[in-house]
Amino acid sequence: MFRSLSLFILTFVSGPSLGSAPSGPWDAFNYAPASKTLYPTAIRVVSGTVKNQNLLIGNKGSATLSGNGSYVALDYGKEVGGLISLNFDSVTSKSAISLSFTESPVFIRPYASDDSSYPYFTTTYDGVLSVSAPLRSGHWTQPAYALRGGFRFLTIVSNSNDPVTISNVSCAISFMPHVENMRDYSGYFSASDPVFHDSDFLTKLWYAGAYTVQTNVVPVNTGRQVPFMKSGWANNASLGVAGPIIVDGAKRDRAVWPGDMGIAVPTSFVSTNDLIPTRNALSTMFAAINPKTGALPESGPPLSQLDSDTYHMWTLIGTYNYYLYTADNAWLRNVWSNYTKAVAFVEGKVDNSGLMNVTGLRDWARLGGGGHNAEGNAILYKTLTTASELAGYLNYTDLSAKYSQNASSLKTTFNNAFWVKETGLYRDNSSTALSPQDANSFALLYNLTTPEQAKLVSAGLEKNWNDLGAVAPELPDTISPFISGFEVQAHFEAGNDARAMDLLRREWGYMLYTNLSVESTLLEGFTANGSLSYRSYRGYNYDPAYTSHAHGWSSGPTSALTFYVLGLQVLTPQGRTWSIAPHMSGLAAAEGGFETPLGWYGAKWALKSNVFSLNFTTPKVSSGSVRLPVNGTVKLDDAIVWVGAQQLVSVSGGAHSIVVQV
Ligand SMILES: *[C@@H]1O[C@H](CO)[C@@H](O)[C@H](O)[C@H]1NC(C)=O
Ligand SMILES: *[C@@H]1O[C@H](CO)[C@@H](O)[C@H](O)[C@H]1NC(C)=O
Ligand SMILES: *[C@@H]1O[C@H](CO)[C@@H](O)[C@H](O)[C@H]1NC(C)=O
Ligand SMILES: *[C@@H]1O[C@H](CO)[C@@H](O)[C@H](O)[C@H]1NC(C)=O
Ligand SMILES: *[C@@H]1O[C@H](CO)[C@@H](O)[C@H](O)[C@H]1NC(C)=O
Ligand SMILES: *[C@@H]1O[C@H](CO)[C@@H](O)[C@H](O)[C@H]1NC(C)=O
Ligand SMILES: *[C@@H]1O[C@H](CO)[C@@H](O)[C@H](O)[C@H]1NC(C)=O
Ligand SMILES: *[C@@H]1O[C@H](CO)[C@@H](O)[C@H](O)[C@H]1NC(C)=O
Ligand SMILES: *[C@@H]1O[C@H](CO)[C@@H](O)[C@H](O)[C@H]1NC(C)=O
Ligand SMILES: *[C@@H]1O[C@H](CO)[C@@H](O)[C@H](O)[C@H]1NC(C)=O
Ligand SMILES: *[C@@H]1O[C@H](CO)[C@@H](O)[C@H](O)[C@H]1NC(C)=O
Ligand SMILES: *[C@@H]1O[C@H](CO)[C@@H](O)[C@H](O)[C@H]1NC(C)=O
Repeated sequence: MFRSLSLFILTFVSGPSLGSAPSGPWDAFNYAPASKTLYPTAIRVVSGTVKNQNLLIGNKGSATLSGNGSYVALDYGKEVGGLISLNFDSVTSKSAISLSFTESPVFIRPYASDDSSYPYFTTTYDGVLSVSAPLRSGHWTQPAYALRGGFRFLTIVSNSNDPVTISNVSCAISFMPHVENMRDYSGYFSASDPVFHDSDFLTKLWYAGAYTVQTNVVPVNTGRQVPFMKSGWANNASLGVAGPIIVDGAKRDRAVWPGDMGIAVPTSFVSTNDLIPTRNALSTMFAAINPKTGALPESGPPLSQLDSDTYHMWTLIGTYNYYLYTADNAWLRNVWSNYTKAVAFVEGKVDNSGLMNVTGLRDWARLGGGGHNAEGNAILYKTLTTASELAGYLNYTDLSAKYSQNASSLKTTFNNAFWVKETGLYRDNSSTALSPQDANSFALLYNLTTPEQAKLVSAGLEKNWNDLGAVAPELPDTISPFISGFEVQAHFEAGNDARAMDLLRREWGYMLYTNLSVESTLLEGFTANGSLSYRSYRGYNYDPAYTSHAHGWSSGPTSALTFYVLGLQVLTPQGRTWSIAPHMSGLAAAEGGFETPLGWYGAKWALKSNVFSLNFTTPKVSSGSVRLPVNGTVKLDDAIVWVGAQQLVSVSGGAHSIVVQV
């Protein structure tokens, strides 16, 4: 066995060098640009008199716009963000131009950008960036305050009757400021989809989620100006205690939102393992705690929204996630007194019913949510179970036990209050029959259910679907890829892999390929019929141009593909213990991995003519358990370990090979 194992190490498990994921065909789907300076890849629209516009593609030469109102819309090929530079090669004293930006091609317009400053039904609040006469010949760079953090299309308009000749129209990428090679991921994933019209869908989706979150990692001084500009836009506000920092979206809001991080941070972990922006975001929230009450803000500065009990708790759950991936003891100790104060703040809202009375009503946009609410209490359960774990890691044994006791009693009370036998779902509160997508997904995912309830909830959630995804009962006419990211994980947890994959293909299959969006990063949300009018009636003032097309909270599939389809999960800080439990999900094979400070975790599985093969490697200092998706004669490193039904097997760190004759 020892000999075959060492041979095996040589042949398969060569971990990444220099902290990078192994390279392979999957690299073709990595959306991150190879350079920090990007040139247009195509011309999207030309209007009026424009000469040699094609020379702007890839910076091959100069183009001339003649006549007032002539314009060219340049395509950067995918979502980008940063300051535009260009050269004025030939101008007169009257030549003038303007620039307008948009993520969606629907809003390519010479007179306005898409909206980022403020939502307004005209869709033209942001307007254009005017570069007025007299222009100076030579190199020009967009002023820093006017940064557009997310766009795919740039429209350049001539604003005078005199011609203007330009060249060298580049975008200097502003996100991921601390990383030179943005393509150098620490994780990867690859699997062929036998069902979807594009067999590379799953791999593309994994990378689209990863890139979406990269576009949300920004310099600390590039937040949206608050109070909002009276017209136009400005992205020069300070976002927190340190940078780089993770925000909710590339174009907007460009602020820290802890709920969004509940999805975006696991994406960072499995793809780039770039968690400094997460630490900076969490530190920003703890620094802004209300010293009297222990309440945390809903969002980071300069927005600094208050009064959200759910987002308050997301900062606490986010603290657990960050610690799970890093075991950053120094940081955890530093925030510990504020952390426990913030747990006490929500525990203080638990009344003699045993449930939390949710009074901080701001949330991800859903309606209702107050009082003895199922979503809030499901999140409280997760807050308490993770608080118990964190207290345990810091050796506060008594506190850990108390959090855990309160979690168990909440579990009982939650089920008594919200479970509706007739529907097989949880209701939103005691005075409604509505069964929300969020509370039901969280209850299943966070283990408030019995296995029987889990099956019912998974089946019940499917009833909300249409062709494009899950329509949330708690926010009618809306498909939320944020909440759906939790729903996908919930179906995997319930063992309904086919259902999880079905939802992925509907919802993300729409988002990633629709020509209304950027075909590279992931939309904040859309309406039940697929339009961009997300949240029109709920805060966005009927402005479809305000919707963000690069929102990290929509990247749930990236971590779900790694944690469930590939099957690799870390159980204790830094992955000192782990589990591997592939969900075959109708696929023939999958491979991938990620890194923690302990080293490389990689796995590769395939099912071929009744032989299931799983090769995996984890750091020597770690250990874990394996659960196989098939029954049969199981060989671990060439020795038969069991025959028959699946069992959980403990395995040491290092490289291993499992073969199952099904
Ligand atoms: C999207 O594709 C449809 C069908 O090909 C086409 O009619 C429509 O104009 C396209 N929309 C955009 C914004 O490109
Ligand atoms: C940001 O830019 C705007 C527009 O130029 C300006 O009014 C504002 O004072 C700037 N804010 C900061 C913090 O620099
Ligand atoms: C260019 O056209 C716009 C819109 O029609 C007009 O407002 C502006 O005055 C014109 N500029 C010149 C220099 O003619
Ligand atoms: C073209 O733009 C790039 C990026 O801003 C700049 O570094 C370079 O100097 C410009 N080239 C010329 C010839 O001005
Ligand atoms: C903890 O909260 C106080 C306010 O009570 C704040 O001044 C301090 O910066 C916070 N500490 C950390 C590490 O967040
Ligand atoms: C109870 O839930 C319903 C449906 O979500 C909602 O309309 C109502 O406002 C909720 N009640 C409270 C007190 O929030
Ligand atoms: C929750 O607290 C609010 C404010 O104190 C109160 O008006 C409401 O009745 C409480 N809800 C429940 C279900 O006790
Ligand atoms: C907790 O206690 C254990 C056993 O004494 C020790 O190994 C570990 O370092 C302690 N953890 C922390 C965070 O102090
Ligand atoms: C546990 O719940 C009780 C009753 O709601 C509360 O008084 C206590 O503070 C909670 N304990 C902790 C550690 O949060
Ligand atoms: C879920 O909760 C039950 C008890 O309520 C517990 O036995 C089980 O271990 C939990 N599962 C996980 C994955 O934590
Ligand atoms: C696992 O490794 C063995 C030995 O190199 C190889 O034959 C097998 O194909 C590998 N399995 C997978 C799923 O790659
Ligand atoms: C393995 O066998 C057990 C016990 O017979 C059964 O419950 C389970 O569904 C089987 N699993 C698979 C993947 O066939």
